[in-house]
Amino acid sequence: MPSLAVVGAGAVGLSVAWRASRAGWSVTVHDPEPMRGASWVAGGMLAPLTEGWPGQTDALELGLASLALWPEFAARLGCPLMTRGTVVVGVDAADAAELDVLAGWLDGHGREVARLTRRELRAAEPSLAQGFRAALDVPGDWAVDNRALLAALSTGVSVVAEQVHDLGALAADQVVVCAGAASGALVPDLPVRPVKGEILRLRVRPGALPPPARTVRGVVHGRHVYLVPRPGGLVVGATTREVGVDREVTVGGVRDLVADAEAVLPAVAEYGVVSVDAGLRPGTPDDLPLIGRLDDRTVLATGHGRNGLLLAPLTAEAVLAELAGTPRDDVACARPGRFT
Ligand code: GLY
Repeated sequence: MPSLAVVGAGAVGLSVAWRASRAGWSVTVHDPEPMRGASWVAGGMLAPLTEGWPGQTDALELGLASLALWPEFAARLGCPLMTRGTVVVGVDAADAAELDVLAGWLDGHGREVARLTRRELRAAEPSLAQGFRAALDVPGDWAVDNRALLAALSTGVSVVAEQVHDLGALAADQVVVCAGAASGALVPDLPVRPVKGEILRLRVRPGALPPPARTVRGVVHGRHVYLVPRPGGLVVGATTREVGVDREVTVGGVRDLVADAEAVLPAVAEYGVVSVDAGLRPGTPDDLPLIGRLDDRTVLATGHGRNGLLLAPLTAEAVLAELAGTPRDDVACARPGRFT
């Protein structure tokens, strides 16, 4: 049986490991802190549409291709998908203009997007604040409980809780680098940088209004916030800061998240705080991942930026195709050599 070392036990690494095990590889995953990186911190949105923006057509296509794999992927893992869609709200006139741009772009790509009146928004999500300048319904963006997903993916996978310093020292026929923001320490000159994000997990206390049924994204005086419902609670994310390797939650980050979440859903003031976390997204210069062969023994699957959860199933398929010597055309925009 051929052996595979996967470096990184996040959503991408564990999806590669899970998929490779099913294809007959003997797989070991290496990570100093398994399942505690960006995939653990994340909100679990599967959102190629509302994470998109004009000009990001490759990212849209990749995201849609991966989203199409999610129903079967989630079903095999026993992880329910939240498929009620996403609502986007804008607070002031400039925020509404941003929603208009997004809606026009989605329309232009033939994706379903509806402008909601205030009355329609209130009927759809009665606990939201009133008086938004604009609101969109985007039914094609979903979510998953990322922590439940990580637990399901890791079942039956051999995970070694150790830092890898040298890929050459790994005893495996093939190696896949899925180390997210830490990938640059393993592969010289890799164009991957940390992009910090802070996030809150909240609990609905007795007597408080319930969270929305759908994911709600808010543009609040130019700042972005998202509220992802969970049974009995809510995930509120996320800040975006280019501050290098820094996983400390800041007072300013929490302040901004709470203020923006409250502008969207006033009831959050009554919720309990379960946890505050910070994670490092693996950013690349063009906001597209790096998926493909680096050398005869090494495949890259990193740099997924804001979309690691979304892109995990497609990345796993692409890595398996690469290992089989048949690279997929639909991830050609993510080839690692594109910057050289
Ligand atoms: N995908 C959302 C985020 O990275 O915050």
